[in-house]
Amino acid sequence: MAEDRVVLTEIAEGVATLTINRPDKLNALNTAVRTQFVEALDALREDAAVRAVVVTGAGSKAFVAGADIGEFEGRAPIDQYRVMATFQIFDAADAFPKPVIAAINGFCLGGGCELALACDIRIASDKARLGQPEVNLGLLPGGGGTQRLPRLVGLGNAYKLLFTGEMIGADEALRIGLVDEVVAHEQVLDRAVEVARAIAQKSPVALHLIKEAVRASVRTPLDEGRRHEMTLFALAFSSQDKEEGVKAFLEKRPAEFTGR
Ligand code: COA
Repeated sequence: MAEDRVVLTEIAEGVATLTINRPDKLNALNTAVRTQFVEALDALREDAAVRAVVVTGAGSKAFVAGADIGEFEGRAPIDQYRVMATFQIFDAADAFPKPVIAAINGFCLGGGCELALACDIRIASDKARLGQPEVNLGLLPGGGGTQRLPRLVGLGNAYKLLFTGEMIGADEALRIGLVDEVVAHEQVLDRAVEVARAIAQKSPVALHLIKEAVRASVRTPLDEGRRHEMTLFALAFSSQDKEEGVKAFLEKRPAEFTGR
């Protein structure tokens, strides 16, 4: 039943929009959300019609206000570990072979901020509030916050957010590089979809390999990353998309990429 779905998928013009759908709980990540989010990405991975993904939260108040704190109480550590290790929504978004854009439409806290961090591009509403408040619960981020945040905003800015647990507004998030663009609240989803549609016109082969190369840049030494990049370049060079892209340029017409 659609009304039972806590992750909704809508596909149009090459873009899939995933909406985390628990607005009365500010879209907090419970086990059902984690399960359905990973399932939704699995379905979109093989769907050639989908060339980019937008992730957002239902309602006008929150992107995601963190892990569902209600599920923490009384849960055995091993059960919490099983949920986190089995439904790796953060790593699934990061490793997804197509671009993923976060449309941050409000509170973006804890696991919500980590989900945004795991996306490739972050577009925020001017009303968004972002932070890693786990320290207030006697916890630390468990979805990559201590790893992806310092890579994105630098050690000092990351420590400030992680040690204080304080929320920052969209403009401050833009200033430190936590988000890439800030738009009027009502426009955030439209803007994210607009960016995703522009990306969806590009070569799926190139997009996949660009993402793989950029992901490698934060994991490998420069010379190793450069060798990897050259190998991926050669792979792109052998694609039909490259033939089409070069031909279209020379014929002065838009390219029609197939992802082959
Ligand atoms: N887990 C579970 N439920 C949550 C939640 C979370 N992370 N965040 C919000 N909710 C629920 C609230 O319990 C409330 O439910 P209720 O109406 O059944 O009581 C509902 O969502 C609305 O939240 P509320 O706190 O009333 O809204 P607010 O505007 O007063 O405050 C926040 C908004 C985001 C400041 C506040 O909800 C908050 O601090 N949430 C927790 C953030 C957090 O610590 N996240 C990290 C978790 S590791």
